[in-house]
Amino acid sequence: MQDTPGNEIHGAASENLRAIHADYYTSEEIFCEEKQKLFFRSWQYACHVSELTEPGNYVATSILGQNVFVIRDHDGEIRAYHNVCPHRGHKLVDGAGTKRVIVCPYHHWSFSLDGGLRHMRTKSTSVAPDRSAVCLKTVRVDLLLDFVFVNLDPHALPIAEFWPGVEDHIRQTCPEVDGYVLAAQAAAIHAVDVAANWKVQIDNYLECQHCRHGHLSFSDMLDINNQYYTLTTNAAYNFIPGNKKADNMAYPLDLEHDKTDLHFWFLFPNIGISQFAGVGNLSLFQWNPAHPGRAKRLSVNLEPPVTSDPGMRDRQEKRAIWGRDVLQPEDISFLLSVQEGMSQRSFDRGWYIVDWKNIEYSEAMMRHFHDTYLRHMDRAEPPAELAAE
Ligand code: FES
Ligand SMILES: [Fe+2]
Repeated sequence: MQDTPGNEIHGAASENLRAIHADYYTSEEIFCEEKQKLFFRSWQYACHVSELTEPGNYVATSILGQNVFVIRDHDGEIRAYHNVCPHRGHKLVDGAGTKRVIVCPYHHWSFSLDGGLRHMRTKSTSVAPDRSAVCLKTVRVDLLLDFVFVNLDPHALPIAEFWPGVEDHIRQTCPEVDGYVLAAQAAAIHAVDVAANWKVQIDNYLECQHCRHGHLSFSDMLDINNQYYTLTTNAAYNFIPGNKKADNMAYPLDLEHDKTDLHFWFLFPNIGISQFAGVGNLSLFQWNPAHPGRAKRLSVNLEPPVTSDPGMRDRQEKRAIWGRDVLQPEDISFLLSVQEGMSQRSFDRGWYIVDWKNIEYSEAMMRHFHDTYLRHMDRAEPPAELAAE
């Protein structure tokens, strides 16, 4: 437990004040290693459970080029498979929809929803593989709240063990979110492609030292110096209390109906879940890298199933416009510049500020992310070739 009430560290934390080396943000080689050690071994968002209500409902997704689909089977169970036909490798399904059986578009081999082969095109004269040897390859699937996740590692820990206590904590902190539904139409899911490494983007989310001058309206709405952190295994939580100003520089709040605080959970390696001030909401973010210098931030937005008051939709829209036109551009300009900085020959690694009394100044949550990153990359210390000062 640290000085300010609310701050907690569970487990060891480093004392480092030097940040990870700039090569971690630019190197192709390290990016390939991240795929193997992080992205192909961790829980990645696939869809919201409301997209899989009926047997046969499916959603196709991809984890850095590895195609997967999730589907509800005839017994109501959610299953996930590699989205590749065992015959010759054609993709089995695209987008989202409903399938009673899965028929490969190429040679029409078909598979039942439990992954078994139903039919392959043969005649009595054909010499063909044993049917029992041909089936779809399964992918691990698990839920956090109503978010469906998949994991390419068959030996991965279940979500409840990899991010221990997080689901319960979200439910305790924001008990009403269990009933939330995907937001209406275009607002439900969107993605922002930014020319900055995925960790540059997450680093920016994990510190608020830039908030006071970089996000004037955000800092008017929230009491950024009275925030606190909880750092846990493979995760972190950040609470920022609201200033409880109905007329603030960000967007109007209805103090009777709206949330006034900000809750943010970071789930290693690349997931964020947040509840923002304003009309009831819960968002999941996932930073999906395309290559070392680029990542797309997916956001999946939930809202209450019923309107709380006549002005709710209007306030909801004002918050969305503020996020899109004010907060996001403010951050993107920082991100683009930092990514450029990572490849400057004169810059090798940055510094952390750690302050357990004035969290506004502190970058301890970002350092915790980097410590976790190095641990999963099997690097207790930065490798020798990167440590050269
Ligand atoms: S590749 Fe799928 S049936 Fe041939
Ligand atoms: Fe920011």
